[in-house]
Amino acid sequence: MAKKEENTSDLMEKIVSLCKRRGFVFPGSEIYGGLANSFDYGPLGVELENNIKNIWWKRFVHQRDDVVGIDAALIMNPKVWEASGHLENFSDPLVECKKCHHRFREDQLKEKKCPDCKGELMPAKQFNLMLKTFLGPVENSDSAVYLRPEIAQTMFVDFKNVLDTTRRKLPFGVASQGKAFRNEITPGNFIFRTREFNLMELEYFVREDEWKKWFEYWKGEMENWLLDLGVNMKHIHQVEIPNGERAHYSKRTVDFEYEYPFGQKELYGLAYRTDFDLKNHFKEPPYEDAESGEKFYPHVIEPTFGLDRSVLVALLEAYCQEKDRVVLKLPVKLAPYKVAVFPLLKNKPELVKKATEVYHQLKKNFTVAFDDRGNIGKRYYSQDEIGTPFCVTIDFDTLENDDVTVRDRDTMKQERIKIKELTNFFNGKLA
Ligand code: GAP
Repeated sequence: MAKKEENTSDLMEKIVSLCKRRGFVFPGSEIYGGLANSFDYGPLGVELENNIKNIWWKRFVHQRDDVVGIDAALIMNPKVWEASGHLENFSDPLVECKKCHHRFREDQLKEKKCPDCKGELMPAKQFNLMLKTFLGPVENSDSAVYLRPEIAQTMFVDFKNVLDTTRRKLPFGVASQGKAFRNEITPGNFIFRTREFNLMELEYFVREDEWKKWFEYWKGEMENWLLDLGVNMKHIHQVEIPNGERAHYSKRTVDFEYEYPFGQKELYGLAYRTDFDLKNHFKEPPYEDAESGEKFYPHVIEPTFGLDRSVLVALLEAYCQEKDRVVLKLPVKLAPYKVAVFPLLKNKPELVKKATEVYHQLKKNFTVAFDDRGNIGKRYYSQDEIGTPFCVTIDFDTLENDDVTVRDRDTMKQERIKIKELTNFFNGKLA
């Protein structure tokens, strides 16, 4: 059995290198020297990312009766950010070194000196994190707009439209996935903190007197989600964020922190946003109780999930090494390829023909790789490294008996399965 590697910075280097080598994550704009902390998901990374998005959507939207989804514009009317308080409050304290002029987030410094040259720091200034751009040909204050720093506001602004079109009753939620942008002062640690990132957010609307109950409920749902992602709960710490450190809209926040190789830091957050956002966007209460006719502002519980941090944590949790065998023990639902098909020998046309048939048969239902390079051992090694749960080998017995060898990534056990039973077999294993 492969041994689980300790969470060390060495592990981080191995993950970054694996991601580049095997096509999970590439440095963005690499041929032009890159662009500070921007990354692109490669062919395997996009599959992993999409699998996470899809199981999140299935769990939090499709399998529930009380949540619907939306997909809104990235650029919103700037009045949204005025009303939401982001223009005024969405900032980090920025300090600059008097000597080397490097800039840092004051709240992330261990001492009141420049970490690069130990020089004296200038007094902190609040730096707004929203990324500004301009719509249309003229660049002036009238055309200035912001790329959204969170998705949440789209769900508040669309609240009435969702309500009118779906006739929901409290409690109910709206979910959305997509890009968010923040002009971070100190991005870093690979895909942990970037200026353009992916979010999966859910705004759950409740009656004020029920917020505590729903807060606890969503904490439990976030824990269940972490199990889907294959996370060992020993690596997760729920941290109560004290007064003064919470976002401007939150009355209670619990961060789900993870033990990354570079320290314990935020993975997800759960916030009680009160009626702060709906009150700021709607002059009149947007919700009417169908029975009593009472009009009021619902309160909001918000579980929020960074997608890129989910990808990073899934990789960190899955990475195992035993001597020179590297295995990504991803939960099968997350694996980019579910099955890899090999002809035993590349130079035997009858084996290649049969393997190609099996490959096309399985591709109708699963993501499947085909590999005829090197020997079987090397192909197993290569598929283990990217987390493929099953490998199928077509050999000379296949031509006689119409069966194949199926090898399991985790147990490394092999069994013979009839070709006509393969789809059912994998359906059972991959469900
Ligand atoms: N709507 C609530 C909200 O935006 P947040 O804690 O500021 O809350 C939500 O961000 C999640 O987005 C975080 O828990 C984290 O997973 C992710 N996140 C935040 N900033 C990020 C960044 N610069 N790069 C990657 N992910 C980030």
